[in-house]
Parts: sequence; C-alpha cells; structure tokens
Amino acid sequence: MLSSEIRKKYIEFFKERGHVELPSASLIPENDSTTLFNTAGMQPLIPFLMGEPHPANSAIVNCQKCVRTGDIGEVGDSSHLTFFEMLGNWPLGFYGKKEAIEYSFEFLTNKKWLGIDPNKLYITVFEGDKDVEKDTESIKIWQECFKSIGIEAQENQRIFPLGKKDNFWGPVGASGPCGPDTEMFIDIGLEKCSDNCQPGCNCGKYIEIWNDVFMFYYKNLDGTYKLLDKPQIDTGFGLERATCILNNLDNVYDTDLFVPIVNEIKKLSNIENPDLKQLKSIRIISDHIRSAVFIMGDDLGICPSNLNQGYVVRRLIRNAIRHAKLIGIKDVFTFKIAEVIIELMDEFYGELKRNKNFIINQLIEEEKKFSKTLENGLKEFNKLNTVNGSDAFKLYSTYGFPVEMTIDLINERGLTFDMDEFNAEFGKHKELSRTASCGMFKGGLADHSEIVTKYHTATHLLHQALRETLGNHVEQRGSNLTTERMRFDFSHPDKLTPEQLQIIEDLVNKKIKESIPVLCELKPLDEAKKCGAIGLFGNKYGDQVNVYTIGDFSKEICGGPHVQNTSELGHFKIIKEESASSGVRRIKAILE
Ligand code: ALA
Repeated sequence: MLSSEIRKKYIEFFKERGHVELPSASLIPENDSTTLFNTAGMQPLIPFLMGEPHPANSAIVNCQKCVRTGDIGEVGDSSHLTFFEMLGNWPLGFYGKKEAIEYSFEFLTNKKWLGIDPNKLYITVFEGDKDVEKDTESIKIWQECFKSIGIEAQENQRIFPLGKKDNFWGPVGASGPCGPDTEMFIDIGLEKCSDNCQPGCNCGKYIEIWNDVFMFYYKNLDGTYKLLDKPQIDTGFGLERATCILNNLDNVYDTDLFVPIVNEIKKLSNIENPDLKQLKSIRIISDHIRSAVFIMGDDLGICPSNLNQGYVVRRLIRNAIRHAKLIGIKDVFTFKIAEVIIELMDEFYGELKRNKNFIINQLIEEEKKFSKTLENGLKEFNKLNTVNGSDAFKLYSTYGFPVEMTIDLINERGLTFDMDEFNAEFGKHKELSRTASCGMFKGGLADHSEIVTKYHTATHLLHQALRETLGNHVEQRGSNLTTERMRFDFSHPDKLTPEQLQIIEDLVNKKIKESIPVLCELKPLDEAKKCGAIGLFGNKYGDQVNVYTIGDFSKEICGGPHVQNTSELGHFKIIKEESASSGVRRIKAILE
C-alpha cells in the first residue's frame, strides 16, 4: 500500500465521519516558543484543546508535518527520522473516548480501510498511579471492539496496562494538556526477545502504529495535575511507520517515501550494494536532506544560519555532506536530492514547489560555504604531522572544522591517535582557551573529570530553570563544582520556598529526561548577545565566544566542557538553599 493511499484513506475515513480536514500547519510553531518545530499534530491545536472554539465547529482531521531533533543521533537505524508526517483526528468535544477507540479499531482492521489482521493487533492502556486512575474504561471499550469480530481480548494477553513512561502523553512544554493514552501495536511476527516480551518492549517485535491520548488533564508548572474543564482527545498515527508495517518492510527507507531518494544517493555515489556503514550514511543523507527541504520549503522559509531553526537546518545539511563524502560523493549534490524529494512530495505539499528556487539556492549556498570551511581546515590539517587534542581544537575553533571530520582524516591517513587523550585534551583546551583569553571561570572548575562535566551542564539547566521560575532578574553570580556536588550562586532577593525549589528541581529533571543534545557554536560576542545567549557579560571576553545551546531551553556563553546530551546527567537533586551574601542566594545540588 502506497503512503499516499494510507494518507488519503485516513483523511477520507474521518471525513466520512463528519471531520473537517485541516491543511498541515507550518513546521515552525506560531506564537509558541516552547519548541523550535511542531513535534506532533496536536501542537498547533493547543489553544483549541484548551477550550477555545475551533472555527471549523466540528471534529477535525489532518496530516501534520513534524520535526523532532531529540533522536538525531539515532538516525540511520531502521526507524528514527527527524522529519515525519503525523496523521491525527481530534473530536474537539464532538465525540468521546468510545467513538475514538472504535474509529481506531475500524480503520486499522476493516478490510475497506487498512485491513490489518486483528490477531496481530495489541493494545496498551494506562495502569494508573497516584495522580490518575487506571484506564479500565478503555480496556472495556477495546474488549467490546475485539468481541464484535469474535476475539476474546484478555487483559495481559491482548490488552496490557502499563505505567506512566509508556502510557501517558504530554505536555509538550513544561506545562499543558496531557493525559493517559492507549497505544496500538502491530506484531510484525518476529520471535519474542524474552519471556517478558510484550507490547512496549523495544526489541522490534511490536511496532506502535497509533496513539489515542485522553487529554483530560492539565499539568501545572509545579508538577501537579488538574482536570481540564473540557476533556479532549488527541491522536497520532505515524505515516512512515504505518507504510513500513503495511508493506511488511523492516525499515522506513524501503518505503515509497524514501526509495527514490535512496536510489538517487546510490546513483550519485556509485554504490549499488552498500555495506552496513555505507547504508547508514545513505539513510542519514536521505533523512537530513528531507528534513532540511521541508524546513526551508515551509512558507515561513527558514534558511541555514547560526540561530534556532536555521542552526538545525545548517547542522542537517552539513552532517549530510559529511556522510556524502564518506560514500564518495564529490560534487555539489544536495540540490539534486532536494529535486527528487520535491518531486516525490509535491502532490501533498504544494509549498515545496512554490519554494523550490529558494530551497535549491539555499542548499547550493550552504554547500559552498561548508566546502570553504572544509578547504581551509584541510589546508591546516595537512600542515600537521601528528594531531593532538590542541590541534583538533584549533581546527574546530578557528576554522569551524567538524571534530568528526578531523577524526575521519586521522583514521584515513593512519596517523596514531589516542582517542581518550583527545577527548580529555579537547575538553581541557576549550576550557583553557576560555580561561586564557578572558581570565574567567578561575576556580570554577576543579577538574575535568566526567562527573564535573556533568555538573557543569547541570549548572546551565539550573540557571535557566531559575530564570523561568523566579524571573529573568536571576543572574549567575558564581559557581563552584567538585566531583561531589555543584554550588551555584545567583541574584535573587528572597529565600526560595519549598514549592519553588520543587518546581525548579522538576524542571531540570524534565530537561534531563528529554535527552536534549548540547550544542556548541563559536561566534562573535555581539552575535552571541544578539541571539539571546546569557552568561557573565560583566567579564572581559575575547572576540569569539562559545555558545552552548540546550534545545530551545538554554543558551549560554561558556567555555565548556559539557556533556553531549542531557540524558547523561542522571537525576538532579537540590540539597540546600541558603543566602550567599546580600541579594545573592546559593543552591547546592547533586546528581545521583
Ligand atoms: N500527540 C500524541 C503523540 O505524539 C498523539 O503520540
């Protein structure tokens, strides 16, 4: 079944049932600074899920363009993508849980629609906890659905109650609508990975195809939940995964959404039967250029830059180019892949053709810029006989030469190289160069061991969490890190209440859980200030500063080193709050 058929069927099914079809909203959220991109179909609809009347005055259905960059490091495996399409239906009060589940069941299993064998369909529901009760109502509705076609759907055999981690969705930001969900899985027929293998296990046997979220709650900033005045339902059906499952494929790149893109890359690289490493590069190039095309091809037109969405586009394109070099593509090539993507997706996303010239020009421009960067970096690299951490740092800080490429070149040329020494040196040199050029952070960092690096990143999260909770008057006044704990001093007039401390701690832990990559960019101080980076501006800085960005949450001028992803931090706990001096408070915290 072609992806276009699945898309059409979904929309037709819900239109037949009184839904109005909405076009996909822009990938760039409007009036919403919680995320850089729309990450789910519900995101542009939040005001309506919060009770504002929708102009359509009926239930709605759509196919929404989404970008999630949290898993960018996983791209290249069988299923992770940065850009994807999410189909969804929203009753907006015009029907309830029973109909929502019945519609899902009918669309998935009825021969007129997807016709999936109901014996392969498995369900999970929320098992309940201290805040929200067990979803027995959904279990009953599912059991009725299965019974109508003669299947006895027992709890823990076909319907599995699971905890919050699996069956509770939202909110998108720190607070917002959310609720227990029921997820639909297809058993693709692999052997069970263990006796405990069941829907929710990530071995690949059970693939989630659809999620119906019962948004009956609103999560407050302090972590408590309240019932929404008008309960809502939000659903999400991933097109790429569904296309994969419905065609018995084991990876999304073999679906019709990707085959022409993959073929073009194979043609350009002259590789017909890629080995595993080459396959990964081909997949990364496909995914990244597809995302970049959709972000730039949006009518809000984002071009590659060092800022926000533009920075994501730049990283996607540059990473794709890096992988293209690994598989032997030499010429300017990204626009050729973009042409294939635009042709492939044009029928449903007319904006791509409308913005085709813009997309192509931006890609060519960016490829030229990156190639200049690489050329300069390569010249410098060629002057070296051996490469140590300090050399690699210079290549990166002065020429913007990607660290991964330095490592590739070292391997290519068979230079001896100690990876551990490199990592240690890289961190240290970044820090030393900051200390030397601006005489700051002295004594701030006791050493560069792994745990201190973690505390350093936690400091940035805490800094931002304080500002979000207490206000933007909060500014760092000092910090001191040891392997045992972190200490952070900041401007604030009053003692913090236990409630405030809890909110701050929860917010930091939430950001840790979100597995956000920590990115570093070198830029002129003026530009760093302009893009809203915080930091100790009172000190003297060199002309160029490192700006560390943690998603759209934190942006701070700093010398590093930092972990690569917030997920490395573990659990954050505030152990003490006290006065440091007049108008300055001090927090001590640990990572456990
Ligand atoms: N918003 C829900 C999800 O993304 C449906 O899974």
